[in-house]
Amino acid sequence: MRTQAAPPPTAVVAAAWDVPDPDTLPDDIYGRTVRRGRDLIARTSSLIGPDAADPAMRHAGNGLDCQSCHIQAGTQQFGIPLAGIWGVFPQYIGRENEVRTLEERVNGCMERSMNGRALPVDGPEMKAILTYIRHISAPERVGQSLTGRGTPALPLPDRAADPARGQQIYAENCVACHGADGLGQRLDAAEAAGTGRRYRFPPLWGPDSYNDGAGMARIITAARFVHGNMPLGTTFEAPVIAPADAFDVMAFINTQPRPHRAGLEADFPDRSNKPVDAAYPPFVGPFTPDQHRFGPWQPIQDWLRANPAAARAIP
Ligand code: HEC
Ligand code: HEC
Repeated sequence: MRTQAAPPPTAVVAAAWDVPDPDTLPDDIYGRTVRRGRDLIARTSSLIGPDAADPAMRHAGNGLDCQSCHIQAGTQQFGIPLAGIWGVFPQYIGRENEVRTLEERVNGCMERSMNGRALPVDGPEMKAILTYIRHISAPERVGQSLTGRGTPALPLPDRAADPARGQQIYAENCVACHGADGLGQRLDAAEAAGTGRRYRFPPLWGPDSYNDGAGMARIITAARFVHGNMPLGTTFEAPVIAPADAFDVMAFINTQPRPHRAGLEADFPDRSNKPVDAAYPPFVGPFTPDQHRFGPWQPIQDWLRANPAAARAIP
């Protein structure tokens, strides 16, 4: 079923990244704060999620860790890295149509990817997360063009992504870890206490996964992530899942049940910035909701380019 994986679209090498190791820092306040930030990224569920001892600290609302998507605690090229993004914020963000700070961006993932509630922007947890991001964003890289940021670019398929075909790709390549029910592999109580994580392999759908307003709920974003990072251990230099298979498998996964985020219709007040694959209304242009969800997306992009005024109008 699986087709030959395409070569990576960009000729860059992972070795170009030399991320500072927090464990080499001394046991002083700075070193402890950096390591605390790393732990908050890697063991989110037990520190500020549903398994936190203090109920007031349960900000993340699902069983994921930030590291479930920000691979290797945010140090992996094209694994949606957090390394290298210090200095990129404040930045214009289309979803809110305003300039947002790094704290606000972190909280965007708290409310959507983690299906939770925002961390206080001036609290010790946010401070530790920012200190960690600052530390792993080696000074010599700050402000440079960030090769390896986000996920690897993929050409858009010229057909709609196919959830039925995606279900077969899923059975062949993903079930072993994420489970036939998509609920992942939960650790038993002793393992969870030992690792600080709820899952050995995280859930891809169901109540303990990301909500429908998350970036991962959009098929283009998710396909790029899967192509560059899955199955676990894959890097963008040697992708395993071919682009067409990545689109199809995420079409299957993203049509399974997951938490709903209220108020999504208020996202992207400037509709011309709404990603073509955002699968929730209001939609711009003469395309069906299904075409936004599954593609083909190129005609939508072409229409948006040809009709900038119509795209910008706020209904
Ligand atoms: C379900 C997957 C998922 C989880 C879990 C997740 N994120 Fe994200 N995060 C994303 C995606 C997708 C993006 C957008 C990447 C892109 O635009 O290419 C993103 C972007 C970000 C960015 C901006 C990165 C950039 O390059 O601009 C930050 C900062 C961030 N996340 C922090 C966090 C933190 C902190 C947590 C945990 C509290 C977290 N995320 C949990 C998926 C996730
Ligand atoms: C060998 C086990 C393994 C296989 C096989 C695997 N994954 Fe994953 N996947 C993981 C782990 C582990 C993580 C979280 C990364 C971490 O915690 O280091 C993850 C994270 C993810 C995430 C983001 C987090 C979440 O829960 O939503 C997605 C999406 C995903 N995998 C999709 C896939 C797809 C699609 C396939 C099949 C093409 C696949 N994975 C195959 C182990 C695996």
